[in-house]
Amino acid sequence: MKNLILAIESSCDDSSIAIINKDNFECVFYEKISQDLNHNAYGGVVPELAARLHSEALPNILSKTKPFFDKLCAIAVTNEPGLSVSLLSGVSMAKTLALSLNLPLLAINHLKGHIYSLFLKEKIRTELGILLVSGGHTMVLFIDKNKNIKILANTMDDSFGESFDKAAKMLNLGYPGGVAIQNLALKAKEKNIKFPIPLKHSKELNYSFSGLKNAFRVKILENEILDESLKAELAFGFEEAACLHILDKLEKLFAIHKFKHFGVVGGASANLKLRTLLARLCEKYEASLSLAPLNFCADNALMIARASVDAYENKEFVSIKKDILSPRNENFTRL
Ligand code: KG4
Ligand code: ZN
Repeated sequence: MKNLILAIESSCDDSSIAIINKDNFECVFYEKISQDLNHNAYGGVVPELAARLHSEALPNILSKTKPFFDKLCAIAVTNEPGLSVSLLSGVSMAKTLALSLNLPLLAINHLKGHIYSLFLKEKIRTELGILLVSGGHTMVLFIDKNKNIKILANTMDDSFGESFDKAAKMLNLGYPGGVAIQNLALKAKEKNIKFPIPLKHSKELNYSFSGLKNAFRVKILENEILDESLKAELAFGFEEAACLHILDKLEKLFAIHKFKHFGVVGGASANLKLRTLLARLCEKYEASLSLAPLNFCADNALMIARASVDAYENKEFVSIKKDILSPRNENFTRL
């Protein structure tokens, strides 16, 4: 029986392929090759390097999936949003596979993929509030009962994850910065450095991390010697202010929208302080909280594969002869 979908994710700096059984959501193959170490020295993702690394990693992973080829019923690929040169690596491979194996092609929005990371083994839940925090996005969403996606809040400048990356770069912690800042903050013995929580006294429901980033830079410049204990204290103060900013606006949104079910997704949803604060908020508002498994918060092809099962059922096939690639977030109105 042909009931497997092969999905490719290469929107940024992770090369990943997953194969899912569309009838029971079972993952029969999964591999991801991260480029973190390659970009570490640059303090951020270098697009040209990312593309070249995808061109090596993706065929390496794909070569292991050949035993499943005769059971495939479709090929899926992340086509938006992301770095164009990175997206192109996956899209070209997916089109070639679809053509040579004579299979339909599914184009999956990366952010929808992150939402599906909450439902890797189950049907999706609607009427759900979502906090999406990744390297490029910080949004609060609502998925209504017809699967329409409503954006309730967005960032006006940097994203939550990106602000961690920039703070880490200022402390020479390398890339990616989120986990580096989190781990350093855990070592803080002194916790006296406080950063202002952005837009704390404003009615604004959107996010802004640029002021916090600047306050962090100024605080670093104030200190001539940055020893390990001071760095840890700075990291603690930064993480706390960033997480409290997320919570402050979210609390206002909870008061308005009265979410009964809430979920958090995206690479930065692995942040443990954020998870703890969200659990408290949901308890206060008597909402259930869904978290993606820690190892599937960051970019991965399994979330794309899971999203592709619903796209397959809805027959959302795309032509291999059309340009399906978009660096922007164009197809994000309905799950
Ligand atoms: O979703 P993702 O893997 O890639 C994008 O789609 O952008 O998210 C990556 C982002 C990076 O900015 C990374 O620093 C951040 O997620 N991140 C974290 C943590 N782990 C990853 N940010 C804060 N705390 C973490 N523990
Ligand atoms: Zn992502």
